[in-house]
Amino acid sequence: MAERPAVGIHDLSAATAHHVLTHETLAASNGADVAKYHRGIGLRAMSVPAPDEDIVTMAAAAAAPVVARHGTDRIRTIVFATESSVDQAKAAGIHVHSLLGLPSATRVVELKQACYGGTAGLQFAIGLVHRDPSQQVLVIASDVSKYALGEPGEATQGAAAVAMLVGADPALVRVEDPSGMYTADVMDFWRPNYRTTALVDGHESISAYLQALEGSWKDYTERGGRTLDEFGAFCYHQPFPRMADKAHRHLLNYCGRDVDDALVAGAVGRTTAYNAEIGNSYTASMYLGLAALLDTADDLTGRTVGFLSYGSGSVAEFFAGTVVPGYRAHTRPDQHRAAIDRRQEIDYATYRELHEHAFPVDGGDYPAPAVTTGPYRLAGLSGHKRVYEPR
Ligand code: CAA
Repeated sequence: MAERPAVGIHDLSAATAHHVLTHETLAASNGADVAKYHRGIGLRAMSVPAPDEDIVTMAAAAAAPVVARHGTDRIRTIVFATESSVDQAKAAGIHVHSLLGLPSATRVVELKQACYGGTAGLQFAIGLVHRDPSQQVLVIASDVSKYALGEPGEATQGAAAVAMLVGADPALVRVEDPSGMYTADVMDFWRPNYRTTALVDGHESISAYLQALEGSWKDYTERGGRTLDEFGAFCYHQPFPRMADKAHRHLLNYCGRDVDDALVAGAVGRTTAYNAEIGNSYTASMYLGLAALLDTADDLTGRTVGFLSYGSGSVAEFFAGTVVPGYRAHTRPDQHRAAIDRRQEIDYATYRELHEHAFPVDGGDYPAPAVTTGPYRLAGLSGHKRVYEPR
């Protein structure tokens, strides 16, 4: 049998929303000690979408630089992972396909399993590329994380999209076999169709996450995966950055290792920079962790990164990826820093208005106010349809 090509992440581009609310502002308005946010959960600010932004506009903003760099000739599939879907039938990726002018000979589909969906997209894409290494798959993870005002989860909201081009001979990260899998039927976090905000049992969800980490690591090692010492860094799903710390401590304990702060910081410290300023971006969060790692860590050439993707409900997958020589020439640190820095800071009253904002659901025509300075916007609703446009 012919040797299989290396397949993985060839390009990775992130985008976020127009507004930002700092945790200082949130703490000043709800009376919390800001240290709880800064140190306790590791968050400094959260992205908040403008009324003319959503998962589609962020996804198109993330994917446009990928298409500009690599063209569309080899992209035959778009996988759009989200848990903040804008339609029950139509895949959000079709709007992105249209905004970016991709060829009609493209397969487009939307995937859902809470925050795990982006990893399902990545793994399905790898399978497609193995079937035909001349093809590339655009995997997009885009989410707006929203909890009810005053709930403990409120401080962990956020919004972002990550677009990844998956192909053979990748320029950034080769994704390896095996994967460790874990599924358990738990109700730690969910969002019924009739709600715009998620329901969560916060502390139960942390236990469920750690249980899933154990289960997927166990399956990974039983399938002949690498040993703990072979990893140079760990990218964990980050509902809030301190969760990466908790997860890595848990894994070290589970493996019978001594746990010390420097060891944990060395393993996860470089993965939290973007999530700390953006908040939870659900499906995109682990890949924002990867973006931060690739953009900010010392040379990672040849280093192996462990990935733990967790989606409440719950599904988890542990897998490894190795950073490719020359990857630095393909990262996007300036673009990512600019996306974070250009956000407009809002006060608490504006945040509350945006949090409550919802279009009427009567099928009428409702233009969205022109606010975002991003490249794409939601122009409004017309006859039950969402209308998107380049800005
Ligand atoms: N100074 C410093 N630290 C402080 C502090 C202070 N003044 N006050 C509290 N802290 C620390 C606490 O000790 C705690 O740290 P440890 O866990 O290390 O002990 C941390 O800050 C949080 O404090 P609490 O547990 O008291 O906070 P909380 O009750 O408000 O809940 C939360 C925190 C459960 C994360 C809540 O924000 C929440 O429900 N978030 C949404 C759910 C979530 O993110 N779950 C994660 C796993 S599920 C998942 O990963 C999927 C997903 O994306 C949702």
